[in-house]
Amino acid sequence: MILETKRLILRPPKKSDWKDIVEGAGNIEVSKNLSLVPHPYTKKDAQKWIKGTIKKWKKKDKKDITFFIELKSERKIIGVTSIHNIDMKDKKATTGSWLNKKYWRKGYMTEAKIPVLDFAFNKIGLKKIETEAFVENISSNGMSKKLGFKKEGLLRKTTVSKATGKVHDANTYGLMKEEWVQTRTRLIKELLKK
Ligand SMILES: CC(C)(COP(=O)(O)OP(=O)(O)OC[C@H]1O[C@@H](n2cnc3c(N)ncnc32)[C@H](O)[C@@H]1OP(=O)(O)O)[C@@H](O)C(=O)NCCC(=O)NCCS
Repeated sequence: MILETKRLILRPPKKSDWKDIVEGAGNIEVSKNLSLVPHPYTKKDAQKWIKGTIKKWKKKDKKDITFFIELKSERKIIGVTSIHNIDMKDKKATTGSWLNKKYWRKGYMTEAKIPVLDFAFNKIGLKKIETEAFVENISSNGMSKKLGFKKEGLLRKTTVSKATGKVHDANTYGLMKEEWVQTRTRLIKELLKK
């Protein structure tokens, strides 16, 4: 499964991606916002994670799909975005993402999320996508709101960041399929203006 936008290719991982993953996830400014990424982040960490991710892609009944985000102009993996905990009974899943800090604030993650959310709602057949962000994570909370996610609650002392050992409160968000239909029209109009 490969998705494509103007500047990006969203594709399954390759073993050779480990270098780009170490560069991106190895930055503490990235990993401090995440639950499961250790710091320092080594070649071995990346290789092990990529291996697990490839295995999940190969499953027939997929529960976790992680797209690697390739920047066409540099042929480089600049981040990842996932649809995971896929639950076909309740037709919902969770989404998460990170981007190499060098590439922040250029609209790349918004551009990546449009086809990924389309895929989740229209191809997988989900009705709701959920996501969480540590309360102090301005960029992730901002991105969730921009994508049309509605805040549903505050989870107190819910997650420890593996990178820092710090315990975090997190905002929890949900996006319904019908809300996405409206938001995506607005986002596409915005992108076309650029
Ligand atoms: C969150 C993250 C993926 C956003 O990626 P990005 O490509 O920089 O995001 P975009 O450029 O598409 O921005 C989308 C929106 O997010 C918000 N946003 C992103 N960075 C922001 C910042 N530094 N300050 C305020 N708002 C920000 C804005 O609303 C922005 O829309 P706008 O540019 O029209 O104002 C990136 O900052 C990141 O990897 N952070 C570290 C890891 C992380 O926090 N992952 C999420 C864990 S829940």
